[in-house]
Amino acid sequence: MSIKTDVLVIGSGIAGLFAALKISEYADVVLVTKKNKAESNTNYAQGGIASVIDPKDSFEKHVADTLIAGAGLCDKEAVESMVKEGPERIKDLIEIGTKFTKIGDSFDLAREGGHSMSRILHSKDLTGQEIERALIHSVEEKNNIKIYEDAIAIDLLTEHNIFNEAKSIGENKNCWGAYILDTSNNVVVKITAKATVLATGGLGQVYLHTTNPLIATGDGFAMAYRAGVEIANMEFIQFHPTSFFTKNSNSDFDGRSFLISEAVRGFGGLLRTKGGNLFMMNYDPRKELAPRDIVARAIDSELKKRGDECVYLDLTHKKSQDIIHHFPNIYTTCLKHGIDITKDFIPVVPAAHYACGGIVVNLRGQTSLNGLYASGEVTMTGVHGANRLASNSLLEALVYAFRCAGTIKEHINGSDIKIPELSDWDDSGTLSHDEKVLITHSFNEVKQTMWDYVGIVRSDLRLERAAKRIHNIYNETEELYKKTRVFKEILELRNLITCSHTIIKSAKMRKESRGLHYTLDYPNLYSSGKIENTVLKNVKE
Ligand code: FAD
Ligand code: SIN
Repeated sequence: MSIKTDVLVIGSGIAGLFAALKISEYADVVLVTKKNKAESNTNYAQGGIASVIDPKDSFEKHVADTLIAGAGLCDKEAVESMVKEGPERIKDLIEIGTKFTKIGDSFDLAREGGHSMSRILHSKDLTGQEIERALIHSVEEKNNIKIYEDAIAIDLLTEHNIFNEAKSIGENKNCWGAYILDTSNNVVVKITAKATVLATGGLGQVYLHTTNPLIATGDGFAMAYRAGVEIANMEFIQFHPTSFFTKNSNSDFDGRSFLISEAVRGFGGLLRTKGGNLFMMNYDPRKELAPRDIVARAIDSELKKRGDECVYLDLTHKKSQDIIHHFPNIYTTCLKHGIDITKDFIPVVPAAHYACGGIVVNLRGQTSLNGLYASGEVTMTGVHGANRLASNSLLEALVYAFRCAGTIKEHINGSDIKIPELSDWDDSGTLSHDEKVLITHSFNEVKQTMWDYVGIVRSDLRLERAAKRIHNIYNETEELYKKTRVFKEILELRNLITCSHTIIKSAKMRKESRGLHYTLDYPNLYSSGKIENTVLKNVKE
């Protein structure tokens, strides 16, 4: 089965939906998404979206805060242009009906770690859900956007797939769409398009504990890598310092850990050990509001020192009604699990949260593959450097989705794009797979390995150990993949393995500790003196 369209958008988070909306102003769009359309990292975003709104704030301050958090590795031009474009894109969100929380006529701007000013627009503590609601509503009003749910992209269509012609991976030049598995009836559909936007979000599920939902299996990073697209800085995985600790956090929250927003610390939340002692002053003068890498490492160090399972976030000195007013979702969720955050300390631990690296895109959202564009968490724009500043992710996704739409307009109007005859998906000789349990075991093995050896604190030995284990699982999985009819779980497992490989490989390349990458073998921050991105490309290496 095949479908033709002008532009294929893969993913229905903020990046995919906003790109689709803008592209629909001049072209037809098919948007595929692997589960239901709202299920995305975006939908779980709590704290908000950073932008310069307060007249006392300035672009210079937002830029400076972003560069400081990024630990010397941000692309200054990318940061400056994103920050300056921010207020316009926020207006776009408001125009489509996004309701940000206000006090009187003014926005209630919150403060988060690493920000020198209060500049976070939010909708109580359910900002992502509100943005997703408004975007889906607008997209559904467009007749020329077709949304396919339960449709998982398998691989990009490139020179590789030209009918009757074999080309090697290093020679890829163009992207003409993707193969999509329709999981509702198990059919692979070939969607050809003049331009393709990858907006597949993050990869948190690579780790045992993550704030990301089950969809975040790094599919876009892996598809791009397999197609020979340049990716970079994969070692910079952001661990959020404060996810809710329960004995079975993964099963309590459907495969993810529940986030306790950084805005809680911005509101005055204090971190305490099990014994009730404050500890952040021993790590950074900014204490609870230091950037995330510092707070997560401090918690990790306290846990290891004391052998405790968690530390505690304390809001009990704040007024009950203020807490409930600002954080209704966190309040009710914790209450369901036996913690009244107005009276009890909240048990918290770090969890994998965000990928700062990804597909390299330029200021216009172009990847190294002609016809392939990308925006959102799957990208490496240069904005986050070695550590993302809180609430800059939604902003980055919005800004780059808008730019992708502008660049694609020139691409498809400016030249006569001829799509060659491309092969249909070929699964002859493959069998249905009746040993799904093997996939589950490998899934768990990857997640445990990455958590144990490629986490907040790394070393050469740990990385080497992880590389060997992931390599074994890779070989087993590829063998199975070649003889099996595709299904969702095997696709996701392959993608988790590819992402793990790229994270480990980049981490091994970085012979220093910087931002989110901390290694015991090169413990002095910024020790190499040479500031470089770790660029990977899947050519015969
Ligand atoms: P997503 O929103 O994750 O969307 C990806 C989409 O791609 C999904 O629809 C998914 O189903 C689809 N997809 C994936 N693979 C495939 C495939 N193979 N085929 C088809 N579809 C596919 N950032 C902030 O700036 N502020 C915050 O307050 C904030 N809070 C957060 C709280 C939580 C709990 C989490 C997890 C993240 C938070 N972040 C926050 C980060 C931010 O939410 C994400 O980085 C951002 O939403 C990513 O948007 P996206 O559109 O790139 O990806
Ligand atoms: C949070 O609310 O703490 C998440 C903010 C972010 O990831 O930027």
